[in-house]
Amino acid sequence: MSRTWPTAFATTAALTVFAAGLLIGGNTLEGWGLAARWTARVGFPIFLAAYLASSLVKLAPAPWSRALLRDRRWWGLGFAASHTVHFVALVVATSLNPEPRSIASLIPGGIAYVFILLMALTSSKAAMRALGRNWKRLHSTGIHVIWLIYTLAYAKRIPVPETRLIGMTMTALALTALALRLAARRKRPVSAFA
Ligand code: HEM
Repeated sequence: MSRTWPTAFATTAALTVFAAGLLIGGNTLEGWGLAARWTARVGFPIFLAAYLASSLVKLAPAPWSRALLRDRRWWGLGFAASHTVHFVALVVATSLNPEPRSIASLIPGGIAYVFILLMALTSSKAAMRALGRNWKRLHSTGIHVIWLIYTLAYAKRIPVPETRLIGMTMTALALTALALRLAARRKRPVSAFA
């Protein structure tokens, strides 16, 4: 199987839930809202695969974790693709919504999108070589910015009864993922392309 399959898988999953949201939504606004919600949701496990790849190989060295690390770039690009679909849905959902969003509320997500774009554009080995130590700085800052936006987006759903379950489940997953990264940092480093 081609090593790019995670990108194809993530793109297909995002497009599938996007279409499902539009079909299942009772009206246009609800449909685009569901498409936005579900494309973000499907992107989360894909993001976690990229976020955790290097930690899992340190904490649980095995063929599956080495394969995850080897294909991390394709998981990352899959996440960028799924969030491009989220972007289309959120632009339409936001423009249809009669309650306008403040510019301030768009800033955190907007910053995360700048990182997603920069990380996707610099995902090649050539960019890695050209950027040197700045590549690592960019990618570790970016991945934690994305982690933060996901965690905040889900944590703020906890106080609302209708979204409490998804908020608690995903916030717990995000915090577990952070704990795994911290546990892995205490271990000896492993080459990113082992
Ligand atoms: C300015 C940029 C963004 C805007 C305007 C935006 C807008 C939206 C909208 C309209 C929804 C659907 C809300 C609903 O009906 O529940 C949504 C859901 C969501 N978005 Fe975004 N989004 C942005 C960027 C991001 C980014 C960068 C991330 C993650 C890194 C993200 C994560 C989420 C999450 C976690 C949900 C809820 C998914 C769920 O319910 O499972 N968003 N967003």
